Amino acid sequence: MKNLIRLTFCLLVLTTRYCTGQEAIIKTNHPDGWLIRTHSSSYQMIITASGELKSVYYGPKVTDARKNDAWVTTVDEIPVRGGSAFNTSALEAVFDDGCRDLDLEYVSGNVETIDNHPVLEVIQKDRYYPLQVTSFIKVYPANDILEKWIEVKNTGSRGNIKIENLLSGSIVLPTNQYDLTQLSGKPMNEFQIYNGLLTPGIKIIQNKTFKSNFNPPWFAVHPAGTSGNSGPVWIGSLHYSGNWVLKFDQAFGGRLQILGGINFWDTDIMLKPGDSFTSPVLTSGFTTKGLDGAAQNLSAYIRKDILPETHRNDLRPVIFNSYYADGLNVNEKVLEKQAKSAAALGIELFVIDDGWFKGRDNGNDGLGDWIVDSTKFPHGLTPLIREVNRLGMRFGLWVEPENVDVNSDLYRTHPDWVLGFPHRQGNPYRRILNLAKPEVFHYLLSSLTRLLQENNIAFVKWDQNNFLSDPGWPDAPPDERREVRIKYIQNLYRLVDSLKGRFPKVWFESCSSGGGRIDLGMMSRMDMAWVSDNTYALNRIFIQYGYLSCMPANTMVSFVVDKIGNYYRQPTSLNFRFNVAMSGILGISTDMDKWTLTEKELAKKKISEYKLIRPLVQQGTLYRLVSPFETNRCALQFTGNHTDSTVVLCYNMAAYLQGSQVVIRGSSLLRLRGLQPDAQYSLKNLDDSDDKGRMFTGDELMNVGIEWPVREAYNSKILLLEKLKR
Ligand code: DGJ
Repeated sequence: MKNLIRLTFCLLVLTTRYCTGQEAIIKTNHPDGWLIRTHSSSYQMIITASGELKSVYYGPKVTDARKNDAWVTTVDEIPVRGGSAFNTSALEAVFDDGCRDLDLEYVSGNVETIDNHPVLEVIQKDRYYPLQVTSFIKVYPANDILEKWIEVKNTGSRGNIKIENLLSGSIVLPTNQYDLTQLSGKPMNEFQIYNGLLTPGIKIIQNKTFKSNFNPPWFAVHPAGTSGNSGPVWIGSLHYSGNWVLKFDQAFGGRLQILGGINFWDTDIMLKPGDSFTSPVLTSGFTTKGLDGAAQNLSAYIRKDILPETHRNDLRPVIFNSYYADGLNVNEKVLEKQAKSAAALGIELFVIDDGWFKGRDNGNDGLGDWIVDSTKFPHGLTPLIREVNRLGMRFGLWVEPENVDVNSDLYRTHPDWVLGFPHRQGNPYRRILNLAKPEVFHYLLSSLTRLLQENNIAFVKWDQNNFLSDPGWPDAPPDERREVRIKYIQNLYRLVDSLKGRFPKVWFESCSSGGGRIDLGMMSRMDMAWVSDNTYALNRIFIQYGYLSCMPANTMVSFVVDKIGNYYRQPTSLNFRFNVAMSGILGISTDMDKWTLTEKELAKKKISEYKLIRPLVQQGTLYRLVSPFETNRCALQFTGNHTDSTVVLCYNMAAYLQGSQVVIRGSSLLRLRGLQPDAQYSLKNLDDSDDKGRMFTGDELMNVGIEWPVREAYNSKILLLEKLKR
C-alpha cells in the first residue's frame, strides 16, 4: 500500500507537461530536468543536485525520463572554459579582473511558444561574476528538428566581459563509433559529398573567409559503416553566413560531442554592463531513416519554417538570365530581342545579370555605383522592363552591393569605407565595403531602395564575389575592431531585411561566385540560390545531388547553357541539359536566337513539361534513389505530398553496359520509394509522346524495381507516375 501511494504520488509529480499538442517539452522531477520529444527523437537534460545543467541524451525516442549510469560522464548543456577541460567549450569569457574561468549554475527554466513552436528557455548564471547565460531550444516535432541558440548578458553595473568564444550549442550523441558526412568544395565544384570515420580527437570544419563559403555549415553523423536509406542519422545546419565552425569531439570511450556556431578566430566581443549578445541558431535533427530521411526532414522544415514567408508557398518561376548569353555586353537592343524569344518559350522571369551599370565595361570596374549605364540603356531600364512585362514576364536585376571596385565613383569619394589595414595593400581592384560602418549600411540601403523604387524590379540576384583578406577597421574604437566580422554580417542581414520590409513582393536569390554563400542564415532571407558557376550538365549532376542533402529543390537554380567553357568537355544534348536543370528551378542562360527551329521547339516543350512536374520537384518529397557518387548514374524521385503523381529523373554518366557490374557499379534495376504498396501506378516516359504507359503496383516498383531506363552515355529520361484512383 505504501508503495502504491508512493507510485501514485510519483506519477503525479513526475512530469509537468508543456504541450502544443505533441507534448514536446516535459519538465521532469525525478530526475530534475527536461525531456524534449519530437516525432522520433528525444533530447534530455538534467539539473544535478549541485545545480549543473547536463545534456544526457539525444537520439531515438525514449518514452520518459530514465535513470542511466552513463549520465555520470555527461557534458554540460553549455560547456564552458572553466573547471576541468574534458569537453569542448561553447563559451569562453574573460572577466574584468582577468579571471578566465566560468562556473555556471542553473537559475530557472521556462517554456514559451514562439511562432507556434514550443521553446525551452533555461537561464544559468556564473556563480560569482555578473554573466547570465540563457540557452534556447525550439522544437519542431513533426520534422524531428531542434533549434538551439544562446544569449549571454553582462548583468553587472561596471566592468566589461570579453567573450572570446560563443557557439550556438552543443549536442552529445550516445556512445558509439561514428562516420561524418560533410559537403565540401570550391568555386565550380561545390557541394561534393565526403564521408569518413571520426577517430578520437577533434575534427574541425570551418571557414575563415568571411562568408559561408563553398562548404556549407552542414553535417550528418551516423554510426560507422552505415549510409543510405535507413538507420540513425544526426544532422546539423548553422544559420550563419560569416565565419563559422563545426567541431566534432570524439572521446576515446566513444562519446561524441558536436558543436557549431560563429568561428571566433581573430574575433571577440566586448560586453559592456547591460550588453547582451545572441548567437545564431544551430539546427539539429535526428532520424532513423538514414541520410535521405534526414534530408527530407531538413527540406520540409526549410520549406515550411525557414524560407522567407513572402514567397514560401509560391512556385518558383522559369528564369532567363543574361550572364551566359551576353556576359557583360548587355544593352537595351540585345535584351529586347532576347526578351521576345524568352517569352515565346514560356519563360516567366527575365533577369539582367552583371554589366548593366555605369562604368561596367570589364569585370574590374564600376562596382559600387548602382546607376544604370546610359550608353547601354539610353532611356534607363524602364522601356525594357515595360516590354518584359508586356510580354508577360517579370523583371529581375543582378547586384553585388557589398563590393566596390577601385575604379568607381564610390571608391574615389569614400576610400575610407572599405575594410583594410593602413600598411597592407589588399586587393588592388576590388575591395569589400565595411558594412559594419553605419554610413556604408545607409548608403547601400538608400541606393538599392532608389533602384527598386525607380524600376519595376520583381527579383534581385544578390552576388558577393570576394574573400576577405584584410579585415581592418582602423577608425573603430580599439576594443571593437575585432567585432568587425560579426557586425558586418549583422548589418548585411539588416540590409536585406530592410529592403525586404520596403519591397515585400521582391524575390531574392543568394549568389557568391556560384554557391559560396548558401546557409540557413541567408536562406531565411533569400528565396533561392545560384548553386554553382559550373553549368556543365554532367558536373552539375554531382553538385546538385550534394546540394539536395542540405537544401530543398525549390531553392536550387539551374540553367541550361550552350557554352561549356574553353577546355574540353564532352558535349551533352539540349534535352539532357534541360533534364538536369529540371530537377531544381529551371532557367535558361544562352542566346536562344542562335538555336535552330528544332532546338527552339524542344526548349518550348521542355519548359511546358517542367511546368507540369514543377509542383512535384519544388514542393514534393525527394528520394535520392541512385547516387552519382556511388555509381555512374543518378536518379531523383520527387513524390507530390498532396497529389497522386511522382516524377523520376534518371541520368547516365556513361553508357549502360548490361550485365557489367564493373561498369555500371550498382544495381541494374531502379527501385522507387515512398509509394503506396497496394496501389496501381501508370508509368510513362515524359520525353516520349508515343509512350502509352505501363502499369505497376507500388510494391512491384519499390521491391522488384524496373530495368534501368536509360541506355546511352550522357542520356536521361524523365518518368512520370500516376497513382490510379480505385
Ligand atoms: C558570379 C556569379 O556566380 C555568376 O552567376 C554571375 O552573376 C557573375 N558573378 C557576374 O559577375
